[in-house]
Order: sequence, then C-alpha cells, then structure tokens
Amino acid sequence: MKDGYWLVGFQYELSGYVYSLGRIPRCKSAMLKHLNKGDKVLVAGVGHGTEAIEASRLGADVTAVDLSETMLKHFRRRIAKENPPRDIRVIHDDIFNVRQTGEYDMVISNFFLNVFSETRVREVANHLGSLVRPGGCFVVGEFVLPGQGLKGLIQKINWYIAISVYSSTTEAVFHPVWDYPGLVEGAGCTIENIEYFPILGVNLYWSILGRKKA
Ligand SMILES: C[S@@+](CC[C@H](N)C(=O)[O-])C[C@H]1O[C@@H](n2cnc3c(N)ncnc32)[C@H](O)[C@@H]1O
Repeated sequence: MKDGYWLVGFQYELSGYVYSLGRIPRCKSAMLKHLNKGDKVLVAGVGHGTEAIEASRLGADVTAVDLSETMLKHFRRRIAKENPPRDIRVIHDDIFNVRQTGEYDMVISNFFLNVFSETRVREVANHLGSLVRPGGCFVVGEFVLPGQGLKGLIQKINWYIAISVYSSTTEAVFHPVWDYPGLVEGAGCTIENIEYFPILGVNLYWSILGRKKA
C-alpha cells in the first residue's frame, strides 16, 4: 500500500504543534465535547491520533483509518505509551474501503480533506458524510478559508507555507484552501457549530461540526 508520509510522517505531529503554536492539536479535539459515552467514532486519516486517543479516554468506541504505515506506526506507539481505556480499532487502508454506511455517531476528518484535489475532495467529503448515522455529526478541522485584507493575506500565507512543504514531500495536492463548511453541507449535514483557533487575532484554523438530519 502506498505510504505518502514515509519521509515526513515521523515529525508531523510535532511540526503541526510548533507551526501553529499549539492551535492545531486543540482544533483537532475541539468537538469531542459533543460525544457521549459509547458513541461510535471514525477518525479518517488519523495520523498520530491525538483526537482518537482523547475520544477513547472520553469513553467512545473509536475506529481509526490511515493509508500510511509510517503514520500508523507512530499512532500505535502513542497508544502503547498513553494506554487509552478502550481498545482503538486501527485500520491500515484507504478510507473508501470503509463502507459502514450510516453507522457512526461522529466521523472526524482533521487536516485530512486538505490533501485532496478539487474533484477528489468532494468525493471524499461525501463518502465521509455517508458513514454518519442520521442525527450524527461530521467534524472537520482545517485551515480557515481566507477572507479579505491583511488578515486574509496572513491566512493565505499560513496555508501556502504548509501546502508548499507537504505537496513537495507527500502525496498532498497543491491547491487553494477549500470551502470546508460548503463540503460539510454538500455531504448532507447542517452546520451546527464552528470554533476558531486564532493567533494574534487572526483566525487560522477552525473546527466545523455538521449535523446529519435525524
Ligand atoms: C495531512 S495528514 C493529517 C493527519 C492527522 N489527521 C492530523 O491531523 O495530524 C493526512 C493523513 O491522511 C492519510 N490519508 C491520505 N489519503 C488517505 C486515504 N485515501 N485513506 C486513508 N487515509 C489517507 C495520510 O496517510 C495522512 O496520515
């Protein structure tokens, strides 16, 4: 199976933390407060698994999927070290091979949709939406869609630095910031909550919670 993160996967969590001054890890876990004990959670493109381990600590039944064996090696090491209370199901596969339609209380996609091209990202978002049960939620943590003026320029620079590095070292595609709330809505969910993670007053990251009609 293709491992797009064999070169840079080892440092992914740490560099995200340093680059965002701690905002990215906070963004990844922001919507876990909407979980109830025993909820079924799917984490797509889990990477090192910050939010997956946190969700397990909160009593969720977590399944985590990733294509990269390098990322999963680091995730498994964290599981062994942090020993979350419930077993986490770790699947080394393409997200399109997860086909439990309408089964999950929460599907989480943190900094995952941003690796895909314009047409592919819609397919991936729609697929993730299809895995959410009626009344469940679809959570997307991502780079904020840039606005106007100086703040918009800073948001763009923040994104283009990140995607320049990762599109040259991984399989991620170089592209502008996608309209993530639009993708969540396109996947059949209504936006219920958005939390922003600013640095010096500029919103750089957001966690978007979409709810599927019950
Ligand atoms: C940008 S990283 C984000 C990792 C993690 N969610 C985080 O926020 O730290 C994207 C992850 O998605 C995984 N990935 C990419 N395409 C995938 C696919 N089709 N199915 C499953 N995982 C995939 C990559 O291997 C990588 O671990």
